[in-house]
Amino acid sequence: MKAAVFNKPNEPLKIEEVEDPKIYFHEILVKVAACGVCNTDLHYIDHGVPTFKKPPIILGHEASGVVKDVGAQVKDFKAGDHVLIPPVFSCGHCYNCRIGRENICLNMIMLGNNIDGAYAELVKVPAKDCIHLPEDMPLQESSIIADAVSTPFHAVKNRAQVRPGDSVVVIGCGGVGINVVQIAAAAGASVIAVDIMDNKLEMAKRLGAKHTINSSKKADKLILTEIRDITNGGADICIEAIGNPKTIEMGPSTLKPGGRYVQVGYSHKAAPLNAGRLMFRELEIIGSLGCRPVDYPKIIEMIKLKKIQLEPVITHRFKLEDINKAFDLMRKSQSLRSIIVF
Ligand code: APR
Ligand code: ZN
Repeated sequence: MKAAVFNKPNEPLKIEEVEDPKIYFHEILVKVAACGVCNTDLHYIDHGVPTFKKPPIILGHEASGVVKDVGAQVKDFKAGDHVLIPPVFSCGHCYNCRIGRENICLNMIMLGNNIDGAYAELVKVPAKDCIHLPEDMPLQESSIIADAVSTPFHAVKNRAQVRPGDSVVVIGCGGVGINVVQIAAAAGASVIAVDIMDNKLEMAKRLGAKHTINSSKKADKLILTEIRDITNGGADICIEAIGNPKTIEMGPSTLKPGGRYVQVGYSHKAAPLNAGRLMFRELEIIGSLGCRPVDYPKIIEMIKLKKIQLEPVITHRFKLEDINKAFDLMRKSQSLRSIIVF
């Protein structure tokens, strides 16, 4: 099969002919329909974050496809089924799995990190983690549910616990943040979207943000004053979806006393924390990672109800051969979400 292979950092992925994956008894073989292109891959390609499986490795962890073959013990899937492949597979028996927090499984396996991923014509995955995609869902577009939509869903619903009427500041409206905006808005929040690019803010408005702030045009102090004015003293919730120490430092300052700050963006750098403010305002600081399997059917239902939109968020489509063009667009922050289509 054809695959985009990561051989070493600071080098484009290479399109290579590799062997078809062979499935074990508990796995399914999926003919990939589409795979979303995620910022996480740039951590490996550009920023020296090592993959767990030593290169060469096939990256790609946001895929949908059609089941081609199933292992001997697989009962829930058959050839021809439409399937969504989550980016992380859980062990099912560690403490966190047993209490229903599979997204922080102590033995998690990440697609396109611990094992070969889905920038390939075929991918093999454990059947128990896969989600049935209804036939009336758009197969290629649904790929982005696996990470770009599911991660924001978990952040908004389970970690931020957004309630109708809450004021929610979303810092960063890129591929991940834009879905935080639309899901928080769908949950009934009054969303204040913050970004440095006007086109991202226009999309945020289109997907339900009530207010937008271009933070490149204002000093931090003025941004905080504006947020305090809009929210009458500070937001209930702030969600950071960039992973920039500067915006991470600013996030908790947007909150009212008793407010909740949720970290979705990833950074390997430390960010300053004003402990006095945290203590005196009794703020909550919360991390959010991925999504639990039980939430995927709920996300699919919200898409069917048109409360979450996929189409506007997918700004570019590329053939596998052109995958490095998708990374270039992402480096320049010019795409919202690109998908590789097969
Ligand atoms: N202030 C406000 N917005 C900013 C700033 C800033 N200082 N710097 C960048 N942005 C905006 C960009 O304009 C862009 O819209 O943040 C957004 C970042 O989005 P993407 O580059 O598309 O990244 P995304 O795929 O959304 O991932 C964001 O989430 O899951 C993590 O690993 C992922 O850390 C990454 C983060
Ligand atoms: Zn586990």
